[in-house]
Amino acid sequence: MTDLKICLVSSEVAPLAKTGGLADVAAGLGRYLKTAGHDVRIFMPFYDRQSYDDVTFESLGEAQDVRVDHFGDSGFTFSVKLTVLPGSDVPIYCVVCPELFDREELYGSYSDEHVRFGLLNRAVLETCQRLGWAPDVFHCNDWHTGLLPLYLKTHYGWDQLFRESKTMLTIHNIGYQGTFSTDALKDLGLDEHANLFYQEDYREGFVNFLKTGLIYSDWLTTVSDTYAREIQTEEFGMGLEEILQRRAGALTGIVNGVDYEDWSPETDPLINHNYSADDLSGKAKNKADLIEVFHLDVPMDAPLIGCVSRLTGQKGFELLLDILPVLLRQENMGFLILGSGEEKYEQYFQWLRDAFPTKVGVYKGYNNELAHKIEAGADVFLMPSRYEPCGLNQMYSLRYGTVPVVRGTGGLADTVVRFDPATGVGTGFVFQDFDVDQLHAEMRRCLQTWKDQGAWSHLIQNGMRQDFSWEKQGLLYEQLYRSLATVQQ
Ligand code: ADP
Ligand code: GLC
Repeated sequence: MTDLKICLVSSEVAPLAKTGGLADVAAGLGRYLKTAGHDVRIFMPFYDRQSYDDVTFESLGEAQDVRVDHFGDSGFTFSVKLTVLPGSDVPIYCVVCPELFDREELYGSYSDEHVRFGLLNRAVLETCQRLGWAPDVFHCNDWHTGLLPLYLKTHYGWDQLFRESKTMLTIHNIGYQGTFSTDALKDLGLDEHANLFYQEDYREGFVNFLKTGLIYSDWLTTVSDTYAREIQTEEFGMGLEEILQRRAGALTGIVNGVDYEDWSPETDPLINHNYSADDLSGKAKNKADLIEVFHLDVPMDAPLIGCVSRLTGQKGFELLLDILPVLLRQENMGFLILGSGEEKYEQYFQWLRDAFPTKVGVYKGYNNELAHKIEAGADVFLMPSRYEPCGLNQMYSLRYGTVPVVRGTGGLADTVVRFDPATGVGTGFVFQDFDVDQLHAEMRRCLQTWKDQGAWSHLIQNGMRQDFSWEKQGLLYEQLYRSLATVQQ
């Protein structure tokens, strides 16, 4: 079969720049496509402040000091640096424009956020032109890349190079849409095309990058089947449900893959003791290490509950506020959280640690190594999300023998099966409604099952056998690209 040319555009790619799961997915899918023999090229911004240890870049001769006029106040100049995804030969084209990308944070409430990511889209197309490279599919991800399909039809509509190119947009999180005032159109060089934006919004004074992408992409995907259905409803669609209903025939749900090269307890270089489903002794040692590092006084026969997350409303922490103190008071258990985000949650977890200093450990911040250590050393992983397009940590947890307790929404519903002690079927604990009592009851079921170590080992073994590899999930993307592309089959 003919190889595909895929241009994967993402605002973050692990390990170069990461704030969440999108970075892992861009890297994992990129690696899979390359291994499958395709010409995949990843485009992302060059964030000067990210640490790029051990990664070498070379300047891309074809794209140096490229001028994009009619953009921002007085135009921008960008260059492209080329590298490869560590541990692979996947090329990554980093768009260098320090004025726009050299910031404290990858994303922020910067007044020129629209210009930053608008330029990323333009730079991708400008670079492809200069390389004479016509992708079969431009695979865009989230709002940051939402304008690419429109730019392709407008500014680059004349270029025969792209006449067969198709566009696909993956929604990783509908909670972030890139909504700006209509003044943004001038900065984006799109004021002459105002009529192409969603007119109801335009009349109300704003434009929406994600919505624009949903309208102009040839195909849409999101990161689980359940989320694909959910976002067509008012409860989850965040205002985009009607458009998604209209485009339902061109919307596919594909659960994210897991990069088991990075996330396997047998080989993970970031954990102290490697282990496998056949010999879990290393897992117990990792747990003992965590207890020591966090100065906890939790016996080894008590469950250690872990959580690694952005601390935002999406992740369902509201449900934990009242329950955790009750459980910590009544149960012999420990609780560890790694994360940062909204101040009210950060403060809550600090308070919780002060209230239960021997049972609770808190690490405020971002720490990849600790994320791996918690996956390996915890017994239970908590994800009570309000909504969860896919979620990666529950899949990592399954592989690490760390039993997930999740709300049955989005990708959590598609990847965790509620354990039934009577039949021995299932991989975790699942509650349905965003409801404190339901979470409480499911946590109690979990803690009850822990007391039956025979059932618990069975549950762990079920989880460790699950396979969400990119070899399986990437194939689904490949099929979709093929059906979109006009390549010879
Ligand atoms: P989301 O993308 O919504 O944040 P996912 O579950 O898809 O949720 O992916 C989160 C990813 O980010 C996982 O790889 C997780 O380990 C990582 N992560 C989240 N918070 C932290 C943190 N504070 N430190 C290290 N890794 C984190
Ligand atoms: C988003 C979602 C998460 C998903 C990730 C990667 O940030 O919140 O559920 O796993 O993107 O697709």
